[in-house]
Amino acid sequence: MLPNLMDAKIRNKSEVKTYYDDYVIPPSVSEYGKGKKYFILTYGCQMNVHDSENIKAILEDMMFDEVSSMDEADLIVINTCAIRENAHNKVMGMLGRIKHLKETKKHNLITVFCGCMAQEEVIANKLKNDYKWVDIVFGTHNIHKLPLYLAKVIDSHKQDIEVYSIEGNIYENIPVKRDSKYKAWVNIMLGCDKFCTYCIVPYTRGKQRSRMPEDIILEVNSLVNSGYKEVTLLGQNVNAYGKDLDINYNLANLLVDVAKTGIDRIRFVTSHPWDFTDEMIDVISKFDNIMPYIHLPIQSGSDRILKLMGRKYTRDEYITLFNKIKEMIPNVSISTDIIVGFPGESDADFEETLDIVKLLKYDLAYTFIYSPREGTPAAKMEDLTPMEVKKKRLATLNSLVNHYALYNNKKYLGKTVMVMLEGHSDKENKLMGYTDTMKLVNVKASDDFIGEIVPVKITDVKTWSLEGELVDD
Ligand code: 5AD
Ligand code: SF4
Repeated sequence: MLPNLMDAKIRNKSEVKTYYDDYVIPPSVSEYGKGKKYFILTYGCQMNVHDSENIKAILEDMMFDEVSSMDEADLIVINTCAIRENAHNKVMGMLGRIKHLKETKKHNLITVFCGCMAQEEVIANKLKNDYKWVDIVFGTHNIHKLPLYLAKVIDSHKQDIEVYSIEGNIYENIPVKRDSKYKAWVNIMLGCDKFCTYCIVPYTRGKQRSRMPEDIILEVNSLVNSGYKEVTLLGQNVNAYGKDLDINYNLANLLVDVAKTGIDRIRFVTSHPWDFTDEMIDVISKFDNIMPYIHLPIQSGSDRILKLMGRKYTRDEYITLFNKIKEMIPNVSISTDIIVGFPGESDADFEETLDIVKLLKYDLAYTFIYSPREGTPAAKMEDLTPMEVKKKRLATLNSLVNHYALYNNKKYLGKTVMVMLEGHSDKENKLMGYTDTMKLVNVKASDDFIGEIVPVKITDVKTWSLEGELVDD
């Protein structure tokens, strides 16, 4: 079954179904992985990383073991991202390497292509016509069916492409092998209905659908019982959580219920300014275990471009919300996403983006050059700005963004902050972790501290990280 962008765009009023027992392993593959190894490569956002955690557990349910080198693998999964052209290019380059392995391997290598790129018509067609050696292709809607596809391919020795361009359902009880023992990703909603004109996500991940609150709380409670200290609630637009449920329950209600589980740290991404209510800000400010860090993508500082992007807020509305968050949540840090070179962006529009960065002084900003995505409305807009100009704009923006990152970090110098130490730092003999405000800190400490939330005195600050020392209690 091949994907279709026209179908992927459809939003009916049809009810979202939650399936609790749709994950099954056919007997023919239940022990297929015994003695076999898998390697998984993941591109893209946290949601994709979390999908890979599901895929790993599914493969291990069939007795495969994970390896960290592609060369040793009997099965390779490539979990792809479609957000920008460079994510595409990386994947296509990697496919070349995998093809070589497939041709030179003595035994049979199984190759699996999944994720957001698989949801794209052009890519699925390319895989069908030019990459016949890729054995299994599935999209974002049917991860839990991997055992069925594996059984089919082993039986038929033919390529199997199963990508659904549907609005989507919710599948509970899919196993998960988490990358960390201390912090966990928890999906609270899938898909997106915002249809910003540049964005492929509403097409690749289907309509907005919220998980039932009780299923989320059950998951968080079980994480608490297993010793997890941090959860990040995931969704393309978490502030719209609950809008599609027929109960009166929103993100503020969910945050309160998750906070009451007693987990030490709660984070959530990504927030859309449009759906951010005062009630949510109030809840975030009241609970100590809801972290004072908000990722609030602005995308552009120009009202004209925001309108063309279909963002549904103005520059002034964004500034008002930003200031309200700063006022109501003490010590909050705010990061953002910015796109430069959107079709029709003039020098004056870009100046407005620079201007708002100067005004708001973000803790961090992820910046991108606009990348046309086939099938989205923006891809059809006239775009006369040369790439050289766009690159220059990006460089100018980045140096401003870096300036404010350092400016904000300097406020931490000499202060003692709580850091959750997660693992080894790139720096010799140091551990790394994050403050409540999501600042990366390198700390000299023994491995015994991994997984602990400890007081750290900040001794040095850089643009991207802080250096600190453990403080004795
Ligand atoms: N081109 C460039 N950047 C994009 N983003 C989303 N779609 C595109 C695109 N077509 C950026 C947005 C979004 C982030 C996840 O990626 O800034 O917030
Ligand atoms: Fe990439 Fe978006 Fe898909 Fe995440 S949801 S993997 S960012 S295209």
